[in-house]
Amino acid sequence: MHMLGRLLASLMLAVGLAVPVFAEDGYDLWLRFRPLTGAALAQTETRLGSIDAADAGDVAVAELSRGLSGLLGKTVPVATGGKVLLGTANDPAITALGLDLRGLGPDGYVIRSIGDRTLVAGGSRTGLLYGVFHLLRLAQETAPLTALTVREVPKIDRRILNHWDNLDRYVERGYAGHSIWDWHKLPDWQDPRYKDYARANASIGINGTVLNNVNANATILTRPYLEKVAALADVFRPYGIRVYLTARFSAPKEIGGLAHADPADPAVAAWWKEKADEIYALIPDFGGFLVKANSEGQPGPQDYGRSHADGANMLADALAPHGGIIMWRAFVYSHETPDDRAKQAYTEFVPLDGQFRDNVLVQVKNGAIDFQPREPFHPLFGAMPKTPLMMEFQITKEYLGFATHLVYLAPMWKEVLDADTFRPKQGSTVAKVVDGSLDGHKLSAMAGVANIGSDRTWSGSHFDQANWYAYGRLAWDHGLSSEAIAQEWAAATFGPDPAIVDPILSMMLPSHQAVVDYMTPIGLHHLMGRGHHYGPAPWLTGGPRADWTSVYYHRATKDGIGFDRTRRGTGAVDQYAKVWADRFDKVKTTPPDFLLWFHHVGWQQPLASGRTLWAELLYRYGRGIQTVASMRRTWEGLRGKVDEDRWQQTAAFLSIQQKEAQWWRDASVAYWQSINGLPLPPGEKPPPQTLEHYKSLSFPFAPGDGK
Ligand code: GCU
Repeated sequence: MHMLGRLLASLMLAVGLAVPVFAEDGYDLWLRFRPLTGAALAQTETRLGSIDAADAGDVAVAELSRGLSGLLGKTVPVATGGKVLLGTANDPAITALGLDLRGLGPDGYVIRSIGDRTLVAGGSRTGLLYGVFHLLRLAQETAPLTALTVREVPKIDRRILNHWDNLDRYVERGYAGHSIWDWHKLPDWQDPRYKDYARANASIGINGTVLNNVNANATILTRPYLEKVAALADVFRPYGIRVYLTARFSAPKEIGGLAHADPADPAVAAWWKEKADEIYALIPDFGGFLVKANSEGQPGPQDYGRSHADGANMLADALAPHGGIIMWRAFVYSHETPDDRAKQAYTEFVPLDGQFRDNVLVQVKNGAIDFQPREPFHPLFGAMPKTPLMMEFQITKEYLGFATHLVYLAPMWKEVLDADTFRPKQGSTVAKVVDGSLDGHKLSAMAGVANIGSDRTWSGSHFDQANWYAYGRLAWDHGLSSEAIAQEWAAATFGPDPAIVDPILSMMLPSHQAVVDYMTPIGLHHLMGRGHHYGPAPWLTGGPRADWTSVYYHRATKDGIGFDRTRRGTGAVDQYAKVWADRFDKVKTTPPDFLLWFHHVGWQQPLASGRTLWAELLYRYGRGIQTVASMRRTWEGLRGKVDEDRWQQTAAFLSIQQKEAQWWRDASVAYWQSINGLPLPPGEKPPPQTLEHYKSLSFPFAPGDGK
């Protein structure tokens, strides 16, 4: 299709037709490279019309020539003296230029205009590849290509995707079809998608991928599967991407024939060492293990009375000789502990600070509960200075409307990254904890739970691609603004015309606040349907554990609503630095967006907005729905400007989003009224259905549910 499209385009250009025909099914992501026209075409031809490379076989050359050929509508020659000079800091042609290329590290690069030539030099081949993608981005968005002086070094070293993919290709919390890993046909058949996946990731700086679900199956560590993993690693390597695996803690028992998996038993440690040796013999640059232990039923060291540090260190010792790392998750909360779930990870992990090996990172979700539409930053950030903490964001939208709600997540992630932990002092942002600069850690990492599947769009919707893109860009440089990233993405994905990009930005930027407003405003959280987390279910109660119900989180009574985490309640506020703790402890000084996260507030209590809490809730539901309505109108206005295929799907998804935003409001209002007995504020419409109706809705086949 692609080749045909290209051919057609060239033919049309040749005969002077202006509108080329391409299948815009989303597969090309932001790497579309459609033919430029006018001044942009002339500029790109003049500045970048040919390539000179020390190693013409490098993927950087292949990518540049592929991208430029698309933009210029013709094959771009690779020859000595070409306009774009590519190389690494060590290539003689580059050193001869006498530029200061120190401090680039392997992933950094520079782009310089030198006379009528453009230099791209990377700290290594991977850095060069990143530089090439940067240059292509500039050309594709029709930015000026003269006087370029770019120097980029990533702020975080390991920029990783976490796939929650099972070996049967089911994707936990996946809304984009099956897993792209076709385990059954690997290693012999390597789907071309694997390479396209690597290209897409490299283009945004992602350099690692955990292939299997955190709820792991030990089979991935058996020889036949390791050979499959090695085949994927071979495809990814030229693109600077390392593979990692989730290790199931009980693997020595399940696939190793041992009686148990106690980390204190030398036989268990020896099994892991041997396993590590086997893995590295197949995959010399294997990244390491991700581990979910003693969490939601997963096995772990506590099964044997050992600590998280004992478990992590045993695995760390097995990987250390090979340079591998352990990413040990802090997402723990126990059945036995009746304490506020939001407090448990902190309680468990802070005492372990300083006990982990050098090659262990603790992987912490952005908030203390679980990827809710909005959470305050996790109190662990800033509280374990002796341990490198890595961020775990969720790109897939488990609690944010799945694939059909247009929600651009960068503003949510930025809110957390930019949050000031005040530990040990003002200015100690979460981003500085994560990039290692605050405490001088050598290891730094970020993980994003992938939204990738076998859907033709990769991400389940065209706009969800923006979240994959934004994740990569923020992992590279957390200082980028949400707007700048959206701008880049929209220009690459829909073309650089401001008449298209500006309206798209006006849809994306308020979309996160909108979903918070129509689902869980003012600090409410975890009110979604049981198990699948689709749709509103604030009435949820009963079941296997209290902290899997909605009533646990909202605590609504006739008098008020919200979770009292103050010093009079669970005391969770004191897990934050004193400045925050004191603020969160009082209604008046708690940021309004987190009010019901930290406080139980009377329905009729007046808020700073001048409205009562009850009126404020209604106001926010309405505001969220209105934002979606306005996103729809904006999209309507783009009909004919955006290709029909992508326009149609997005229009249909926006109408689903609007319907579901209304459903969230109506079902929630019906339920809250059943608790508080209050009339609706003036002007508010009653829910069109009874509470019983909303409660009766069930979705047995909603996608992505845990198994
Ligand atoms: C959430 C999610 C699970 C997942 C878990 C985790 O609870 O619903 O599917 O396994 O997070 O992050 O481990």
